Amino acid sequence: MVWNTQRLLEVARTRLGNAQLIVVANREPYIHRYREGEVEWIRPAGGLTTALDPVMQACGGVWVAHGSGEADRDVCDAAGRVGVPPDQPRYTLRRVWLTREQEEGYYYGFANSCLWPLCHQVFCRPVFDPQHWQIYRQVNELFAAAVLEEAQNGPALIFVQDYHFALLPRLLKQVRPDLIIAHFWHIPWPEVDKFLVCPWARDILEGLLGNDLLGFHTQHDCNNFQECVDRTLECRLNREEFSIIRGGRQTRVRPFPISVDTDLPRRYLGPNWESRAAQWRKKLRLGQRPLLVGVDRLDYTKGIPERLQALDHLLRHHPELKGTFHFLQVGAPSRTHLPAYRDLAEQVEELTERINWEHGTSHWRPVVLLQEHYGPEEITLLYRMAAGCVVSSLHDGMNLVAKEFVATRDDERGVLVLSRFTGAARELTDAVLVNPFDVEELAAGLYQALTMPLEEQERRMRRLRAQVLEHNIYRWAGQLLSALGRMAPDVTAPATATVEAAGLPHLPAAATHHQTVDSLAPLTRL
Ligand code: F6P
Repeated sequence: MVWNTQRLLEVARTRLGNAQLIVVANREPYIHRYREGEVEWIRPAGGLTTALDPVMQACGGVWVAHGSGEADRDVCDAAGRVGVPPDQPRYTLRRVWLTREQEEGYYYGFANSCLWPLCHQVFCRPVFDPQHWQIYRQVNELFAAAVLEEAQNGPALIFVQDYHFALLPRLLKQVRPDLIIAHFWHIPWPEVDKFLVCPWARDILEGLLGNDLLGFHTQHDCNNFQECVDRTLECRLNREEFSIIRGGRQTRVRPFPISVDTDLPRRYLGPNWESRAAQWRKKLRLGQRPLLVGVDRLDYTKGIPERLQALDHLLRHHPELKGTFHFLQVGAPSRTHLPAYRDLAEQVEELTERINWEHGTSHWRPVVLLQEHYGPEEITLLYRMAAGCVVSSLHDGMNLVAKEFVATRDDERGVLVLSRFTGAARELTDAVLVNPFDVEELAAGLYQALTMPLEEQERRMRRLRAQVLEHNIYRWAGQLLSALGRMAPDVTAPATATVEAAGLPHLPAAATHHQTVDSLAPLTRL
């Protein structure tokens, strides 16, 4: 049976009963900003929002996120709520406002200068700054207060996203033990010796054990997490059930490889995509040459310099390819406040300039670099126009660009060149798998993409599509909900703690409302 919005909705109805679904993610799915004096909205770059927005559109509920757009406040009510998608609201976005200092310490600081490099195998030293840690804790408390306010009217399933909120599950559980809390960690979990250098490793693990269910992309990440807990905390590991028992509470740890909505590409392309493609070709002077595309946030984990170096290597060793194709790299600006990201943007520009200078002519530039933010309609068009898509992440939890490319290619053509060090490589084994640290192997992958016979492209793409179409985002969400449903009887305990006891900001009286086990009936009956 195919997973689609309808099936997910049915699962959500059975599993959630009358419990409210509350997603917590740092990044908001819609950002409001000013353009020529008018308010407009955009979808941010990044896999998390792309993956979760269709789920929320299907299930309804509340998404609690940092309100980061310059016009965000202007479209919200006094509590920071606004219906989204803005053109056809289906769920509520509850924005949390952060000061510059909080954004600096929590988002740029602890989340993206400490946890991001700590969890990725990219040889970038994490920053361990006690001030960042302090603010990270403070912002987790701020979000806990917002979630408790949203959940004050009854049972709720809180679905926490990512490394921005490692402390949130425990904070919530202390106040409302009746809440069902699931957390999905969208980035890799490092091996034990790497993780334990973090001065706050123990607090992070304790925070995450506030969850009833903790999901990672791969079994390897789950194993790494369990080993970290085993080495650090007094607890019991149930290796058969993949769970951790600490202080009488149980946290299940499971892999749930995330995916995409496979129906969206057709909608984004629309009927006249070929004329839009022709306009792009004209504007960028691409002629009719085949395109290899890369679509990434400009992030040092994505292996963008490595892919440009491989292209350089390819052109040196296969001069006959000169003038025959273009490499089009979309690099969406990301976290530009951090020097490491600004340095990367500069490095990518320099490499592009050098390669175009050395190999290009007045009629042909090998690399076309677009350092801008593009919406899904344009990105999908590029996937459809491409002869191949290159994903060369040095380490990546999943990488949804790979799956989006496959989902777009209903013509069963096009080659995916994919880093072995992505979660996606475990599922997409018919891609051309490469080690992005090996310039010769990556260059050989690019060569293969440019020369692969059509029959082989079709054979591989058919298998890739079968995998992605079956394992789509609705299946991911449905399986998470089902896993929660199965464990619900274990997670209901009488509520005793108060907001004050957890040291959280004082909430309005109604927010300290406590659930009884009975009020969770729809969940516990499963
Ligand atoms: O996958 C990790 C992640 O932080 C996601 O939360 C998000 O999709 C992506 O990277 C983009 O990051 P940011 O929200 O910091 O722009």
